[in-house]
Amino acid sequence: MIGGRRPWWLHAAVYQIYVRSFADANGDGTGDVAGIRSRLPYLADLGIDAIWVNPWYRSPLHDGGYDVADYRNLDPRFGTIEDAEALIADAREHGIGVLVDLVPNHSSSEHPWFVEALASAPGSPARARYHFKAGRGVEGELPPNDWLSNFGGPAWTRIDDGEWYLHLFDSSQPDFNWENPAVIAEFDDILRFWLDRGIAGMRVDVAPGLMKHPDFPDIGDVSQADSAMAIKDHPFWDRDDVHPIIRRWRSIFDEYDGAMMVAEAWVRADRLPLYLRPDEYHQAFEFDLVRAPWDAATFTSVIGEAFAAANAVGSTPTWVLSNHDVVRHPTRYGLPGDIDPAKWLLDGPHELLDEEAGSRRARAAAMIVMALPGSVYLYQGDELGLPEVWDLPESVLDDPVWENSGRRRKGRDGCRVPIPWEATGPSLGNGAVAPWMPQPEGFAALAVSEQLRDEDSMLNLYRSALAIRRERLTSDEDFEQAVSPNVVEFTRGRGFRCIVNMGTSPVPMPTGEVLLASGSIGDELPSDTAVWLVDSSGE
Ligand code: GLC
Repeated sequence: MIGGRRPWWLHAAVYQIYVRSFADANGDGTGDVAGIRSRLPYLADLGIDAIWVNPWYRSPLHDGGYDVADYRNLDPRFGTIEDAEALIADAREHGIGVLVDLVPNHSSSEHPWFVEALASAPGSPARARYHFKAGRGVEGELPPNDWLSNFGGPAWTRIDDGEWYLHLFDSSQPDFNWENPAVIAEFDDILRFWLDRGIAGMRVDVAPGLMKHPDFPDIGDVSQADSAMAIKDHPFWDRDDVHPIIRRWRSIFDEYDGAMMVAEAWVRADRLPLYLRPDEYHQAFEFDLVRAPWDAATFTSVIGEAFAAANAVGSTPTWVLSNHDVVRHPTRYGLPGDIDPAKWLLDGPHELLDEEAGSRRARAAAMIVMALPGSVYLYQGDELGLPEVWDLPESVLDDPVWENSGRRRKGRDGCRVPIPWEATGPSLGNGAVAPWMPQPEGFAALAVSEQLRDEDSMLNLYRSALAIRRERLTSDEDFEQAVSPNVVEFTRGRGFRCIVNMGTSPVPMPTGEVLLASGSIGDELPSDTAVWLVDSSGE
């Protein structure tokens, strides 16, 4: 809840909205801001403190909106700036803050600056806002260096006059030159534009990108996918000179009471605290649980390390199970721990998936992240237990990862399928017509309308857990973890205990008053089940 003395974001439940797929009010098959507004009562009943809205700016949507053509306006498919303002105001009435997504590493190739750069001569000030370089080879026919795009293929594209421009993602996402004062000033202004409209904060995309080595050296023969974690002084990732920019933004945020920034920073665990120094980001997503297999020892150590890192800089951890970039966790937990879920989407074997185990574990995992001190980020559909739609036909795939990887990575569409609100109709209640991405048959049974009627549904588990969290788990004092094989166990203030059996056989049921359980329990705590208990001393 916004307000009060302790910064709200230290202990918030934030709900991530992928606008395209949340709710379509104008019936064009694409979700929109009016759709979000119409569902605010649902979000308030769920019990969240804030929403983070994925990019809603004007965009050709080559990368789902992470290719921004106008940072100060919405895409007409999503709404208008007035709709955004109305959402911020309505959300506030419901006690919900709005976080917007800041995309500072790159713009869309349709951004007026890039259009101007293409129309201008090599060496011109318009080109200097991006990274244009001459190529190598006799006639400049080779890219300026060996950097690869995150989506596959070279990170450089050649234009008609022979120069190359840098894009760490799709070729429609040219990287800004953050050495250029014009870029710095532009983003100062964009920050203020949204802060002046009353947002509660910003999620910052590709936070460790931005700065590039001035000499643009080759990376060499390290696998580039691993290089960001392996190389010191990496030429384009997690460079030390990104921190002055963060400090600059923080000083702007500090002018706005309660506003916060959360970084998307996929970096080595020992580097993450650097982003969380008191004059930098307020929070950074803790992604280690996203990468963790269903294994008690791994969960226990990830939790312990996240606390150590956050404590060292006086912050609290942020817990994430899924987002719009990863395979949804009910599916991840239904796969053997040694399988890479992103590869499995395409390569299978798909018979390996145990959906029931995945869903049991997803219930238990939700109770872990909602019980831990710190903030929890929920991705739309987590509360419905939506699985990854792994069998989307190739003909509907939209994520640039699919083509850019030479069709070797299926991409992220399977976690972005529109939300089922009702069990029938062309979009399962998402809008008046079939949505931009087809929904599988199985989504009908997972619709909000169905789950509201079933007291044991995933939705009701989330609602109960968030209500208990809000009412009772208000103190982060006395957090302690126990280390026991196959069991994740921790306590926090007022005699609260969370115990999760991740092993394959039941364990004795601990004593205490049961507040909530993820499955049926008796004298024993079954495998893949979580329970929240309170000691009599906590009453
Ligand atoms: C971030 C976003 C992802 C996007 C990429 C490029 O990782 O979460 O969806 O594709 O940045 O902007």
